[in-house]
Amino acid sequence: MIKVGVVGANGKMGQEVVKMTIAAKDLELVCAVDKLNIGDNVYNDVYIEGDIEAALKIHDVDVVVDFTQPSVVFENIKIYMKNNIKSVIGTTGLSDEQIKQIEEMSKNSNTGCIIAPNFSIGAILMMNFASQAAKYFSNAEIIEFHHNQKKDAPSGTSIKTAQLMMKNNDNFKLGNCAETETIQGARGGNYNDNGKGNIQIHSVRMPGFVASQQVIFGSDGQILKIHHDTINRECYMPGVKLAVEYVYNNNSFIYGLENIL
Ligand SMILES: NC(=O)c1ccc[n+]([C@@H]2O[C@H](COP(=O)([O-])OP(=O)(O)OC[C@H]3O[C@@H](n4cnc5c(N)ncnc54)[C@H](O)[C@@H]3O)[C@@H](O)[C@H]2O)c1
Repeated sequence: MIKVGVVGANGKMGQEVVKMTIAAKDLELVCAVDKLNIGDNVYNDVYIEGDIEAALKIHDVDVVVDFTQPSVVFENIKIYMKNNIKSVIGTTGLSDEQIKQIEEMSKNSNTGCIIAPNFSIGAILMMNFASQAAKYFSNAEIIEFHHNQKKDAPSGTSIKTAQLMMKNNDNFKLGNCAETETIQGARGGNYNDNGKGNIQIHSVRMPGFVASQQVIFGSDGQILKIHHDTINRECYMPGVKLAVEYVYNNNSFIYGLENIL
């Protein structure tokens, strides 16, 4: 049995992870942490605890799963690394620089860590298809749609998609004429890496959405649209379970679920 701790256990994703862990034959929920509803019973003798480091010291945790929020996740990961606890990180909003630092910490402390901006298999395929299509089109833009409680924009998935597309085409064209924005931001945000890339990302935040993304490619005379919709949060759980099992058996640092599928 893999002993799992869930951090952010009260949140929308954390609650799904708790349910999945309880239902899985090879996983055991041993602790649940959140800054809200401390003391609430989660399952059997597992109660919500408020202090991550204290909880990790009391309980024998093999793998911690973190779905908290962008402003705290980097500090949380430092705690996991310091205590040599393997981690699966679903929380988005980490910068490229922070991801590099986490990779170093993971290697230096020989502590496995998997960060995935998206645990849905369909979304991974969408990114994969977008990366392939990037070779053949001159223009590309991404529109991502999320519920209106999402704290970071653009989404981690849209950034990851742009990074994968840029591996096959790092010189997309923007509008072919001089553009003027009469409302600032109307053309979205430009993702580029050291001046290369040029992929516009547009973020929609609205009640009713869980998470959707459309990648639109254009060339003379044709448009290709790749679209993925998340209907509910259960879709992430097979990917989270796979990551927990993988990191339990491996000490590597991995960024992106596609690398363990
Ligand atoms: N990787 C993926 O596939 C994927 C999918 C969906 C959401 N997300 C990301 O997961 C994160 C959580 O999303 P959500 O919709 O569950 O958010 P949420 O706001 O519903 O839940 C976050 C939970 O974390 C708790 N929390 C915040 N700071 C904490 C701290 N310091 N210690 C302990 N608990 C803390 C909050 O109290 C809350 O219960 C977001 O960054 C979101 O973008 C990732």
